[in-house]
Amino acid sequence: MSSTENFINHLLAQMTLEEKLGQLNQSYPHENFDPELLRQGKVGSLLNASGALTGQGFSESSSAEVCNHFQRLALEARLKIPLLFGRDVVHGYRTVFPIPLAQAASFDPELVEEAAAVAAREARAEGIRWTFAPMVDIARDPRWGRVAEGAGEDPLLGARIAAAAVRGFQGNDLSRPDTVVACAKHFVGYGAAEGGRDYESGEMSEATLRDIYLPPFESAVRAGVGTIMSAFIDLNGIPATANRRLLTDLLRGEWGFDGFVVSDWNSVAELVSHGVAEDRAHAARLALYAGVDMDMVSGAYLDTLAESVRNGQVPIEEVDEAVRRILRIKHRAGLFENPYTDPQRAARDLLTDRARQLARRMACRSMVLLKNKGDILPLQNFRRILVAGNFVHARGELYGTWSPDGRAEDATPLHEALRQTAPRGTELLFALNDDRAFHLAHRADVVVLVMGEHPIRSGENANVSDLGLPPGQAEFVEMMAGLGKPLVLVVFAGRPLAITRQVALADAVLYAWHPGMEGGAALGEILFGQESPSGRLPITFPRATGQIPIYYNHKNSGRPVSPQGPFATRYLDLPSTPLFPFGYGLTYTTFEYANLRVGSEVLRGAIEVSAEVTNTGSRSGRELVQLYVRDLVGSRTRPVRELKDFRHVELQPGETRRVTFILREEDLAFTRADGTRGVEPGTFHVWIAPDSQGGLRGEFVI
Ligand code: GLC
Repeated sequence: MSSTENFINHLLAQMTLEEKLGQLNQSYPHENFDPELLRQGKVGSLLNASGALTGQGFSESSSAEVCNHFQRLALEARLKIPLLFGRDVVHGYRTVFPIPLAQAASFDPELVEEAAAVAAREARAEGIRWTFAPMVDIARDPRWGRVAEGAGEDPLLGARIAAAAVRGFQGNDLSRPDTVVACAKHFVGYGAAEGGRDYESGEMSEATLRDIYLPPFESAVRAGVGTIMSAFIDLNGIPATANRRLLTDLLRGEWGFDGFVVSDWNSVAELVSHGVAEDRAHAARLALYAGVDMDMVSGAYLDTLAESVRNGQVPIEEVDEAVRRILRIKHRAGLFENPYTDPQRAARDLLTDRARQLARRMACRSMVLLKNKGDILPLQNFRRILVAGNFVHARGELYGTWSPDGRAEDATPLHEALRQTAPRGTELLFALNDDRAFHLAHRADVVVLVMGEHPIRSGENANVSDLGLPPGQAEFVEMMAGLGKPLVLVVFAGRPLAITRQVALADAVLYAWHPGMEGGAALGEILFGQESPSGRLPITFPRATGQIPIYYNHKNSGRPVSPQGPFATRYLDLPSTPLFPFGYGLTYTTFEYANLRVGSEVLRGAIEVSAEVTNTGSRSGRELVQLYVRDLVGSRTRPVRELKDFRHVELQPGETRRVTFILREEDLAFTRADGTRGVEPGTFHVWIAPDSQGGLRGEFVI
């Protein structure tokens, strides 16, 4: 038996029932928190948060001193089991990177991994040993505030980013001093909350669950994620926190996950309000039996499980197994050897120049150019530029949701950053979205509007019923467009917004998301041409809120969309296509795709698919070449497109390169009508494409 297992079993054998339940209990230093509980061994983990809305910035920072203080108390307990300090380090710690949805737009898992590694090193320097990230929930409904935190709508992109984030946070040795335990959340289906309303219930078929929502979690498990967090959601009538089929049979039985499961905030006790538990004791029994090892802040485990064990309702073996899983992760994280943090580390490890440069690079790679009529961008032919809008002085507003350790003062205000990156001789004028902007515009050669949603409108339970620009902003855009000046619109948001009218009015539209602390400089580098935009949409942009749900990998239906068909699926008042499709994005040059080659007519094992990509413009550029398939006939209806691979190519003007993908038979597996997973014979279409709607199409059979 390994030394870790010997260590765990030896420790477990000494533990009283109360001490065991203490390890299953996660608390947080709220105003009524009693530190005596630490000395009594009744807390296994502390969540550095000041409340349930830590993501909305309401949470004082952690620090090595704070963690060391609580750790000293915990190590006064009889068995000296160290605390595991957890915190939401979602897209950076003190160096704040673009929000995860923006990072997904980079389609650059390596960059995501680098950013997570920086976040881990910084968090660890202040005593954090466990982050509640990556959030890997597939999201098809941008009304949901938490669409900001994930990787969008696609299972392949989500899976690659999930694995990259886990590798970045955890490295290849959890005991190293620059790693933290990661947590793939929220298991599972949380993004399917009805109406995009957080905490609502959700319904989906087993096939959709397995083919769309589970792949990012499986990818995180294969990457060795140390923990999983159960979701608030009632999925198909079974709350995720009480779902043994998913938390134990699938997660551990099918996938072999060997870390531990933590419930989301108070979700154990909330099984009572879900109506599946009569009281907290019943809720605790259900959650433990389902496979939730640690109870986040409800206290139900600590308060009720001793009685449930003593009266025979809960076998002690269930408690012991949960304790083992938690002790195993603590041991792997090196907590027993190194429970404390050197307070000197922070000064050295936080907010380094390298970290800032990486944040800027990620912000550049995340921004998506949606329109560029007449190549108005980059702004190289305008001397006097008006920059106006509610983001003109943005600092902390650039950070987005879930950045509790970011400090606004660390960011250069947007207007200042633009001033620093503008070419010599450019005169910049600045205004908010007000009358002054209107008057200054008359003097300007071009107007750049910097608009969008404040981060408080993004994140947990920040759901909106209307995907238009926030109140008053559409009117401002309309007014400024009426001046007839060349108009560039830059949108800051944590979700796709239905900016159909604004796209029609503007000459160019750049989607900046919430780009993090270096977002101002990144915007300047793109607007003035030092960098070319290369982001692509990780989520479909709807024309209007009423189109939701709309996503690229939809089914064909019996009456598919067709311009002329009177019975084709459609709206009377809106085209059936999205405003912008998944995978879409422009850059400052153009690319052409030619000479598709499909390695053979019949796929046996694997097949090569390639095409030539040519930079037909006058500037170098970075293109995301995408591989899609369609299974034409299946025992169950199949999506009209499925992303199966993607790769960037950097091409000089005039340069042509053949891009080759290898498509393996197992890549084509899906949940068949009989519920089994596998590949079915038949004809497939295959595309090499610049987005999920265009590209060169070929064919092969299995
Ligand atoms: C919140 C979130 C979860 C977060 C946890 C701790 O409610 O749902 O993502 O990790 O509580 O802050």
